[in-house]
Amino acid sequence: MPRWTPADMPDQDGRIVVITGGSSGIGAEAADALAGRGAHVVLAVRSQARGDAVAARIRARHRQAQVSGSLLDMAGLDSVRAFARRTADAVPRGDVLLNNAGLGLQAARAVTVDGFERQFGTNHLGHFALTGLLMPVLLNAPAPRMVAISSIAHRRGRIDFDDLQGERRYNGSRAYSQSKLANLMFALELDRRARAAGSRLVSVAAHPGVATTGFVAATGLPRVAVAALNAGIGVFGQDAGRGALPGLYAATMPDVKGGQYWGPDGFKEIKGDPALAAISTHALDQAAWQRLWTVSEQLTGVRYPALSS
Ligand SMILES: NC(=O)c1ccc[n+]([C@@H]2O[C@H](COP(=O)([O-])OP(=O)(O)OC[C@H]3O[C@@H](n4cnc5c(N)ncnc54)[C@H](OP(=O)(O)O)[C@@H]3O)[C@@H](O)[C@H]2O)c1
Repeated sequence: MPRWTPADMPDQDGRIVVITGGSSGIGAEAADALAGRGAHVVLAVRSQARGDAVAARIRARHRQAQVSGSLLDMAGLDSVRAFARRTADAVPRGDVLLNNAGLGLQAARAVTVDGFERQFGTNHLGHFALTGLLMPVLLNAPAPRMVAISSIAHRRGRIDFDDLQGERRYNGSRAYSQSKLANLMFALELDRRARAAGSRLVSVAAHPGVATTGFVAATGLPRVAVAALNAGIGVFGQDAGRGALPGLYAATMPDVKGGQYWGPDGFKEIKGDPALAAISTHALDQAAWQRLWTVSEQLTGVRYPALSS
């Protein structure tokens, strides 16, 4: 039994939470937990049917739940812009933006609608653009938080500024680790900028350890390999509900501070209760944070507004 559960979150009544990748796994679990504590949850999903199914499940479990789905494909900047516009029209503020959507290791190189390497484009650039475009909505909230879901895999990651899109040399594992390192660096740089501006915005990161979700199936590996990997995760890892806990903790608890990274407290952070997690030395390279920010602005065309509020 976890020592910390969603029942330990402060009352979320009146808070508005946007969750990317809310259609399965950790995002769907987080949505359920937050709606159960009273938050109005906006599920950002790329499939209306999958989003509707999750929303219906949440309403069946929590009769008063306020949950709505809105289409968002993180692998297309036009979709990101359209989602941000719709959200700004639909809600007065965003108390939490949980940047959770993610695409696991892709064995073969593929690109997004805009021609970015698919993992870097979906996992990092899409969220970089979305957060910047939603910033005015976030800054309308009294104590806004951005939570980036990274991974243990960030530790293997390096940002290859000379070949960010893996055009010269592609390796799926390297591309995934790079994208998750980028998620963490983005959260840390956003926090640095928010502090420098004296902003109320809190930017943090979290990771789920290793959890049974739709993640392995999304790699496109053969069915036998997916089944074997999921069986292994079932033994050594944790379920999606527990995998959601570090992100929920980072999104809601009063003791959380900007620039922190939360994950499970067990052996090698694979499973356990939410606790401060280890950040790799590479992820602490502030010059790389700023370089990644600049290149992300150039690639997405999204410039952040002033963070002071
Ligand atoms: N599970 C783990 O062990 C593990 C470990 C470390 C980090 N993580 C991170 O945890 C986060 C959640 O993953 P998960 O484990 O819950 O896996 P999951 O069940 O596969 O969920 C991933 C979510 O991301 C969404 N998504 C993928 N590509 C998208 C796109 N182009 N546009 C919009 N949404 C998109 C998926 O939508 P669809 O339903 O439409 O596919 C799904 O809702 C990811 O950031 C992942 O990197 C997971």
